[in-house]
Amino acid sequence: MNYVIDTPEGTRDRLFSECRDRRAVQDALTRLFAARGYDEICTPEMEYYDLFVQSGNPIPQESMLKIIDRSGRIMVMRPDCTTPIARVAATKLRDAPLPQRLYYNETVFRSGVAHRGGSSEIAQCGVELLGAGDMEADVEVIALAAEALRATTKHGFHIELGHAGLFRDMAAQLDMPQADVERMRGLIEGKSYAALGDLLAPYGGHPAARFLSRLSGLFGGQAVLEEAEALVGVREELRYLKTLYEKLSALGYGSEIGFDLGLVHQIEYYTGVIFRGYTTGAGAPVVSGGRYDNLLGAFGRSAPAIGFAVDVDAVAGCRPLEAGDDRLRIALTKGRLQEQTVELFERVGLDCTPVRKPGRRLVHPLPNYPLDAVLAKAPDVITYVEHGVCDLGVVGKDTILEHGSPFYEVLDLGFGRCRFALAVQEGTDFYGTYQTRRIATKYPNVARRFFKEKGMDVEIIRIEGSVELAPLLGLADGIVDIVETGATLRANGLVPIEDVAPVSARLVVNTASMKLKRAQITDLIEKCKRGLELISG
Ligand code: PRP
Repeated sequence: MNYVIDTPEGTRDRLFSECRDRRAVQDALTRLFAARGYDEICTPEMEYYDLFVQSGNPIPQESMLKIIDRSGRIMVMRPDCTTPIARVAATKLRDAPLPQRLYYNETVFRSGVAHRGGSSEIAQCGVELLGAGDMEADVEVIALAAEALRATTKHGFHIELGHAGLFRDMAAQLDMPQADVERMRGLIEGKSYAALGDLLAPYGGHPAARFLSRLSGLFGGQAVLEEAEALVGVREELRYLKTLYEKLSALGYGSEIGFDLGLVHQIEYYTGVIFRGYTTGAGAPVVSGGRYDNLLGAFGRSAPAIGFAVDVDAVAGCRPLEAGDDRLRIALTKGRLQEQTVELFERVGLDCTPVRKPGRRLVHPLPNYPLDAVLAKAPDVITYVEHGVCDLGVVGKDTILEHGSPFYEVLDLGFGRCRFALAVQEGTDFYGTYQTRRIATKYPNVARRFFKEKGMDVEIIRIEGSVELAPLLGLADGIVDIVETGATLRANGLVPIEDVAPVSARLVVNTASMKLKRAQITDLIEKCKRGLELISG
C-alpha cells in the first residue's frame, strides 16, 4: 500500500463520464424533488457518534467510519442522511409548520466488506416528508420514488411494498427467544425457505408460525395480499397495502408496483409501509425507503415521517442491456456440484450438452431452455450473483457461511452434503486447558463465529491447502474444516470432536433478478424442486 498515491479502500477518483453520469442523475432528481415542493437541506459530513446510536439508528457500529476529534470525542462520517435531518427538524426547524418536505443530495459513508467491490462513499439523493402520517403521505412519497426511477433509469423499474407491522406482530405472537426472532428475520429477508421452515417447526401448530414460514415467498402482484389473507385472516396492514396500491394504480403506477411481504430489513426502525425499488442492470435495490414514525420523537419532537433514498451511483452505473439479457444466467460451482446440477437439470428435460462438453468456452447457452450456464470457483459464484451479472448460482453452504449471503438462498439442493467439524489429533484434550487454542482453517469466518458463540478466545490461522497438515506439524491445536466421509481425518490421525454446521449445495438468486425476472426464476426453481423429487424417487 502506498499511502501517498493510493486512495483508501472503498473510495476512488471519478473521472469525466462517471462524473457526468452521476451529475445527470443528481440533476434529474433534485429538479424533480424541488418541483414537487421539497426544500433542500445539507447536514454536516461529520456528526457525533452518539447521534446515530442514541436515536436507534439501525446501522451497525462496525459500518460507521469513526474519527476522534481534538477533545477525544467520537465522530462518524455521516452513515445515513435521515437521522441528521430528523435532528434538524426537531431542533432548528422545531417551530416550522408541519408537514415539512425536505430533500437532500449528499454522500453517506459506510465501511463495507473488503474486496466486495462495494463503495464506502455512497451518493444518495432522497426525500423526507415529516409530520404527515396518513395514507396520502405514503402515496405521495411512493409515487415520488416511482417518478424518481422513471426519470433516471434506462430499462424500466419495479417497486415492492411491504409492511413492518406484519412481521413484528406475528413474531410477537410466538414465544420465541429474541436471538431466534433476529435469526428468523434474517432468514425471511434472505428467502431461505428451508432453514426458515426448520426454525419454525417447533411452533408448527401456531397460525403466526404458519404465516411467518410463508412470508418470504409472499412477493409478486396483488394476489400476494389475497394469499396472505388466506393464511392469516383479515389484517389491517394487508388492507392498508391494498388500498395504497389502488391509489398508486389510479395515479398510473400500477404496473410498476408489486409487493414483497418478506421485506423485513431494519424492522425495529420502520413502523409502517416499507419499500424497495429495482431496475434492470443493477444487482441490488436502487431505492430504499419507508415510514419511520418514532425517529423524530427520539429528538423530542414526536412526528410521523416517511422518506426514501436513491442510490445515485447504482442508478448512474447501470450496465447497458445486452443481447440475451432476457435469458437467465446461472453460475455453477465447478466440479462435483456442477455435475450434480447438470444431472438435476437433465432429469427435468434441460439439454445440458454444452455444459458437459465445455471446451474453452466460458458461457454455455442451453439449447432448449432460456438459460446460460457459466462455470466458476465457489467464491466467484457468490460474487457473480451478488453483483447481478448472474441471476442464479449453485454453491455450497460452506462458501455461503464463509463469504456471507447478500442474495436469496431459495433451495437446499440436498447434494454435496457434508459438514463443518472441529477436529483434533487423537488423544488430545482440546477443551482441557486455559491456554489459547490455535485453529487452522480455510474458513476463518466460520471458525471465528463458532468460537465466538462459545465465548472462547482462539487464534485463527488461515491455511490455503491441506489444513490437516497444520496439527501434524504442530502449528495448530485443531482444525475447522469440511468433513465428508472422514477418511482424510482418519488417514492423518485426527478425530472430529464437534460439528460446526451442516453443509449442502444451495440454489441462490440475485435479489434484483428475483423481482425483475420473477416468472422465469420461479419456473427454474419449480423445475429444480421437481427434479429433486424425481431423484429422491
Ligand atoms: C475437503 C476437506 C478435506 C476433505 C474431507 O477437501 O478440506 O480435506 O475434503 O473429505 P473426507 O471427509 O471425505 O475425507 P477437498 O477434497 O474438497 O479439496 P480442497 O482441499 O481443495 O478443498
